[in-house]
Amino acid sequence: MTDKLTARSSPGELVLSLRGVSKHFGAVSALTDIELDVRAGEVVALVGDNGAGKSTLVKVLAGVHQPSSGTITFSGKEVTLANPGAALDLGIATVFQDLALCENLDVVANIYLGRELNPLRLDEVAMEVRAWTLLNELSARIPSVRDVVASLSGGQRQTVAIARSLLLDPKLIMLDEPTAALGVAQTAEVLNLIERVRDRGHAVIMISHNMEDVRAVADRIVVLRLGRNNGVFYPDSSNQELVAAITGATENAVSRRAGRRQSEPGQQSAREPS
Ligand SMILES: Nc1ncnc2c1ncn2[C@@H]1O[C@H](COP(=O)(O)OP(=O)(O)OP(=O)(O)O)[C@@H](O)[C@H]1O
Ligand SMILES: [Mg+2]
Repeated sequence: MTDKLTARSSPGELVLSLRGVSKHFGAVSALTDIELDVRAGEVVALVGDNGAGKSTLVKVLAGVHQPSSGTITFSGKEVTLANPGAALDLGIATVFQDLALCENLDVVANIYLGRELNPLRLDEVAMEVRAWTLLNELSARIPSVRDVVASLSGGQRQTVAIARSLLLDPKLIMLDEPTAALGVAQTAEVLNLIERVRDRGHAVIMISHNMEDVRAVADRIVVLRLGRNNGVFYPDSSNQELVAAITGATENAVSRRAGRRQSEPGQQSAREPS
């Protein structure tokens, strides 16, 4: 049972540690006393219901929001992430849900957006070679790096956004709902890509509402509920346990349905019917 787990997680150095991180927006407590550890070569899934604080946590780590209290330790040093540039400089890259790609530019231009090798005289050849190398290392399926992003599929766009975030070789990469708008084949492609990013030794935080995706790729699953930690789970946890932690209920319509689905014979779930 743990073979898969031990094979997956040869835990690397501790990259990120949050202790008692809170974030208030006026009277709203979006995050309260959050604790989170992420190691190199590990995918941590951040799950929780709407409004649980997932995006707020990612924005705190991306330098978009300042925490109201608590400490963030990155690569062994306590840090202040005063703005998105500071987070990037430290080695924290974020792929936001909207991807922020430019439709009318090609793949190379999007990967290098704002980080052109020589801003005064664009070194197109070097950028194209580097973009190709990066995409090849990720075994990404992009037909041509000279295609404009407008012509790419959702999965290919996600790939470009992830490649872009890897350009500065970050220690930590955060993905907000990377598979939300994707079909089955594209989702599989993006999950494979996330595994390759992990295998390159990056620490990965992935937000997702899809428990199958989370189980497929995460080494650990951190549940937030109403802005607080509400348990840490592993990919072999049952849907019931996860749903209960997410919703805060041990028995409700969602967990009952999840339980029924799991115990139906012929489901592709690897678990024994309980
Ligand atoms: N800029 C803001 N100003 C005021 N309140 C905010 C702000 N950003 C988030 N919040 C509040 O903080 C709480 C957490 O929101 P957040 O967006 O982090 O949730 P989430 O887990 O990402 O939810 P979802 O799954 O819907 O994306 C919510 O109550 C939200 O209304
Ligand atoms: Mg969100």
